Amino acid sequence: MNNTSETRRVVVIGGTSGIGFAVAQAAAAEGSNVVVASSSRDRVDLAVRKLGDPAEGVLLDVADEAALVAFFDRIGEFDHLVYTAGEPLLLKPLADLTAEESRAFFERRFWGAVLAAKYATPKLRSGGSITLTSGAFATRPVPGASLGAGITAAVEGLTRALALELAPLRVNAVRLGAIRTELWDSTVPEPEAFLRAQGSGLPVQRVGSPEEAAAAYLYLLGNGYATGTVLTLDGGAALA
Ligand SMILES: NC(=O)c1ccc[n+]([C@@H]2O[C@H](COP(=O)([O-])OP(=O)(O)OC[C@H]3O[C@@H](n4cnc5c(N)ncnc54)[C@H](OP(=O)(O)O)[C@@H]3O)[C@@H](O)[C@H]2O)c1
Repeated sequence: MNNTSETRRVVVIGGTSGIGFAVAQAAAAEGSNVVVASSSRDRVDLAVRKLGDPAEGVLLDVADEAALVAFFDRIGEFDHLVYTAGEPLLLKPLADLTAEESRAFFERRFWGAVLAAKYATPKLRSGGSITLTSGAFATRPVPGASLGAGITAAVEGLTRALALELAPLRVNAVRLGAIRTELWDSTVPEPEAFLRAQGSGLPVQRVGSPEEAAAAYLYLLGNGYATGTVLTLDGGAALA
């Protein structure tokens, strides 16, 4: 990374579970000070206990703009923002989606990312970066996941636009295929069977781990020449 380990601070919104937690763990292992934030007190407390000192945990609901403003005011200057916040996936055919739930589904993954980027930017030190989260649905949609496809494609467009608008701040995204995280426990009825089936159709014949996903984020944080990049990590799903 560009800053010295004394000053390097990495903020992970959605960093109390799954991919975000693995990013926080990997950044801490590299010597960064990490701040993890999410909306449930139990998850924040558990993540901080698992990360150990000097990790900080902050309660934050990304759907609340005032809370995002207060969050960035509270934490002050830092070096890298990673955004992985998202609730369980809404997987439904278009005919069954209500307008209300469709709009609400963009709240955390898309609008939260937009506002986090907006309010983080003045606090990011020179050499800093923002890394957002996309998914394989952006380019390989499946029936019943139209909102996931819309959000991920929107995040990728946002990434490219912000990489220009906020330059020389770097803005990137990771486009992930299926990763074994807590997300699936509350998204599908039989997560283990689902993940096995997803993995068996891939060239690597398994789904990814949170640690493998985290390595992609850390690469984008650390490589000062990477901006506007959407890094695909999908076990070969794009080819399958
Ligand atoms: N796992 C995969 O296969 C996969 C594949 C492609 C893309 N992705 C995307 O990657 C992102 C992370 O996924 P994951 O698998 O790591 O999910 P996860 O384990 O469920 O973690 C999601 C995180 O978001 C936080 N969060 C949820 N609502 C929030 C809110 N209103 N405000 C702040 N934080 C909130 C959760 O904490 P709280 O509950 O405490 O708020 C949690 O820390 C998601 O956007 C997901 O769609 C995942």
